[in-house]
Amino acid sequence: MTAYPKTAALMRRGAEFLGSEHAILCGAMSWVSERNLVAAISNAGGFGVIACGAMTPDLLDAEIAGTKALTDKPFGVNLITMHPDLFDLIAVCGRHGVTHVVLAGGIPPKGSVEAIKEFGAKVIVFAPTLALAKKLLRSGGDALVIEGMEAGGHIGPVATGVLAQEFLPALAEEFVVFVAGGIGRGEAIAGFLEMGASGVQLGTRFACATESIAHPDFKKAFFRANARDAVASVQVDPRLPVIPVRALKNKGTEHFTAKQREVAALLDAGEVEMGDAQLQIERYWAGALRRAAIDGDIENGSLMAGQSVGMVTSEEPVAVIMDRLLAESEAALSRR
Ligand SMILES: Cc1cc2nc3c(=O)[nH]c(=O)nc-3n(C[C@H](O)[C@H](O)[C@H](O)COP(=O)(O)O)c2cc1C
Repeated sequence: MTAYPKTAALMRRGAEFLGSEHAILCGAMSWVSERNLVAAISNAGGFGVIACGAMTPDLLDAEIAGTKALTDKPFGVNLITMHPDLFDLIAVCGRHGVTHVVLAGGIPPKGSVEAIKEFGAKVIVFAPTLALAKKLLRSGGDALVIEGMEAGGHIGPVATGVLAQEFLPALAEEFVVFVAGGIGRGEAIAGFLEMGASGVQLGTRFACATESIAHPDFKKAFFRANARDAVASVQVDPRLPVIPVRALKNKGTEHFTAKQREVAALLDAGEVEMGDAQLQIERYWAGALRRAAIDGDIENGSLMAGQSVGMVTSEEPVAVIMDRLLAESEAALSRR
């Protein structure tokens, strides 16, 4: 018996796919989605995802082992496709029998989906366009996350509500699709489920949970912030395409402008190739997020946060947040 029967009925396919009680993923957040938060999410009936980010294979190995020690529930691992050791990281997942691998940050390189499927794991992909989504789902992707520009971290150009209208009618009957970006309350979850989503993914809402190791000052910055404080980074040089990142505005926002100029100058001088230039930018973000989320330097670091940050007002255990989301969804569906 579930306390949320209407929500559970709409989430059934997503929950079966994930092997969790509820089809609510906590999207991988670099530095923040480590063993403690991931295990707490999965233990609360959701689906936690380890953010591999820039970790080495050895570090990922330790993180997966540490997570397994804290939960016997299913969880996933998020790998960034441009990581230079992607195939070694996949092998680490295979040795641990990881059941779900999320490939983020770009089109999966040749052979990566196959390498994951070889050890029986399910592959979750992102796609910015419907055409690419169809291609990835027909060539081995088992489920899709569509993520709108309201989200925290790296973002695309289109809002969640528009992506949902475009992708769900075309894909949701045949495929498992999760909706992410800007979700802060259960009423929104109910809406996307009714549109055909199999489940949802949230990041910002869980980043400041009690179990999150994020620095207390990072959490305080979230509690103080409004939706309009979570702004997208701006590309300063047309020759250097950077993926926009949504974060709370601070001095770090200005540092990023300076960093782009520095990398663009190296590009102009022929000292780096475009691929390396983009990798430098990504390393910059990883370092800046660590400074804020782990070291607590909320002035100069990156406070990656989505627009739902205005709905994050205090530190609460994951289980409390999860139950509230489900209760809100259930109440909304019951009122229909
Ligand atoms: C602090 C932070 C760090 C993030 N890091 C990553 C990451 O390393 N890899 C990734 O695929 N997504 C990352 N994301 C995106 C989340 O996984 C999730 O999809 C997103 O937060 C959902 O939107 P929301 O923030 O509006 O809930 C990050 C988000 C935040 C807020």
